[in-house]
Amino acid sequence: MTHRITLIPGEGIGPEVTAAVVSIIEASGVEIAWEEHIVGSEALHQFGDPLPSSVIQSIKVNRVALKGPVTTPVGEGYPSINVRLRKALDLYANVRPIRSLPGVPSKFGEIDLVVIRENTEDLYSGLEHIVVPGVVESLKIITEKASLRIARFAFELARREGRRKITAVHKANIMKLSDGLFLDCFRRVSRQYPDIDADDRIVDNACMQLVMNPQQFDVLLLENLYGDIISDLAAGLVGGLGVTPGANLGDGVAVFEAVHGTAPDIAGKNLANPTALLLSAILMLKYIGEREAAERITEALHGVLLAGEVRTRDLGGQATTTEFAQAIIDAL
Ligand code: NAI
Repeated sequence: MTHRITLIPGEGIGPEVTAAVVSIIEASGVEIAWEEHIVGSEALHQFGDPLPSSVIQSIKVNRVALKGPVTTPVGEGYPSINVRLRKALDLYANVRPIRSLPGVPSKFGEIDLVVIRENTEDLYSGLEHIVVPGVVESLKIITEKASLRIARFAFELARREGRRKITAVHKANIMKLSDGLFLDCFRRVSRQYPDIDADDRIVDNACMQLVMNPQQFDVLLLENLYGDIISDLAAGLVGGLGVTPGANLGDGVAVFEAVHGTAPDIAGKNLANPTALLLSAILMLKYIGEREAAERITEALHGVLLAGEVRTRDLGGQATTTEFAQAIIDAL
């Protein structure tokens, strides 16, 4: 069976890592008809919109996309393409499995946790305005609907994946209404899942605990902004942004992408580590039912990482993106 999947190579190192991942998937024998789309400044130049409606339409039809990183202009310019995409497709759950990889050194021992981030609201919506010159208001919106939905998603995922505990992370001691609502929804939903432990931590304490004793956590559930920050912190526990995958999930629609950005410092140099996007693609293959191929690619990746002879620079090696991809293809 041929799967039809939207491919967004993205910007910076995006095209390099997506090309590597596409070549590995091809070598695995899974048949995919990629529908490629450009976004970002080139799309703005060509179509007058950094996120043309044809891209959203393509994902709506195909239901699955693999996406490279895109640039988000800081302090000016167009709004985040990622935020627009997540809103347009109602990709309300961001899931980032944080797992130690064989042969990848980390200061924190064996780690296996999942960070689940609410993806549609909170301060991260970028709803800001100037009240009077010199005074800016930024709106943090938390709704019962979105908080209940993401809590249910987290408990369902925990049950499906045999995980035992969910920790909600918040600052409800200060933001008693907004984070208080998020926490209250979590607690209400938790009563329907007596088989899964539910506890919570204040976000600053959670950061400290994550670097002191990460093994105590199983699933972390966070609002959008805390989730953005803590998922990068968690990526650092297992070897960094080059090795951490992600998925943005809605009801019947999914966009798989690495946690990292466009890495302008190494873009165009064939130096990026494609592992993070490859692990995201492995999540995607499982999602579309290609479990056996997903497992074969995982094994090949682990074999190459464990052997340690072919590694990209971020993992202390000298290999290029294409050499690393070729080593995985050879192992397959
Ligand atoms: P970044 O993730 O692009 O880079 C941070 C550091 O990690 C850099 O030193 C980079 O070289 C390194 N790095 C990242 N991915 C790597 C990989 N695969 N292999 C080896 N090294 C890697 O974060 P930064 O610099 O904060 O953001 C750059 C741009 O990316 C910004 O415009 C930002 O908005 C965008 N971005 C986009 C994301 C997305 O589209 N999902 C996510 C995060 C950032």
